[in-house]
Amino acid sequence: MALVTSKEMFAKAYAGGYAIGAFNVNNMETIQGIVEAGKECNSPLILQVSAGARKYANPVYLKHLVEAAVEDTGLPIVMHLDHGASYEMCKDAIDGGFTSVMIDASHHSFAENIEITKKVVEYAHARGVVVEAELGQLAGIEDAVNVKAEDASFTQPDEVCEFTEKTGIDSLAIAIGTSHGAYKFKPGQKPQLRFDILEEVGKRLPGFPIVLHGASSVPQDRVAVINQFGGAMPDAIGIPEEMLRKAASMAVCKINIDSDLRVAFTAAIRKHFAENPSHFDPRQYLGDARAAVKEIVKHKICDVLGSNGKA
Ligand code: G3H
Ligand code: 13P
Ligand code: ZN
Repeated sequence: MALVTSKEMFAKAYAGGYAIGAFNVNNMETIQGIVEAGKECNSPLILQVSAGARKYANPVYLKHLVEAAVEDTGLPIVMHLDHGASYEMCKDAIDGGFTSVMIDASHHSFAENIEITKKVVEYAHARGVVVEAELGQLAGIEDAVNVKAEDASFTQPDEVCEFTEKTGIDSLAIAIGTSHGAYKFKPGQKPQLRFDILEEVGKRLPGFPIVLHGASSVPQDRVAVINQFGGAMPDAIGIPEEMLRKAASMAVCKINIDSDLRVAFTAAIRKHFAENPSHFDPRQYLGDARAAVKEIVKHKICDVLGSNGKA
């Protein structure tokens, strides 16, 4: 089996009321943890690479690691460019073998977003690659994504039909109150999402796959481990998993998770060194990190997203 696009995955997920996990990858152990989980759960997977990941690992290494995952598991796997910042970056990813790209032009005007996205769609579709774009803006700070809370904006349902028709995109990321990173809500603030917007978008675009970014739940038990063993993560609050289940049962077909993997990975390493201060072989602590990624991805697939058994 070769890398696949998300076309068929999303059609099945939409009809079945579940979602596909899109997990960010930066290194071999994270990829292995995710695909071991995918294999045990017989789940389709989206492995996504951000600009920061490309810079960190070199896209060629990541591409071959993802191809190794396909060869090793035989699972339907999409290699997706996360938050492509420009036409050139998307073109580079497509030329480099990605089967799906996101063009993130949501910070431009509506007209410019359409223009840039359309150009990416023309290049991608001519090569059998699918395209995700975004309307509205999530808050949050990651390596290459940095939007202040006051600049974030919800998706306007009135815009989605014109945007999808004029651009020809395959999936649409919307902003309904999720955000990137581990600090999604202020301490004491009750997590809330605008499900009314998701519902309205679903009505306007029947059968069309919607994408939810910034969907980590930030497991408190792992944050506690980080803090127990010398870390200092203050009041990290994520999206309650019940809300992700609800979104997956609606029009959301792709749910992006990065921070949860980072937290699990780091907690495992901190714990490893606290318990084994004399260790210096990276295989020992990275092995624990890989197992932690596998455990959390299995939980996401089987208990939250519902994509188990759907490969
Ligand atoms: O949405 C952003 C992803 O979590 C990737 O983060 O840009 O730090 O690699 P990054
Ligand atoms: P989290 O930071 O919530 O994991 O979101 C990741 C994401 O949206 C990647 O595009
Ligand atoms: Zn994102």
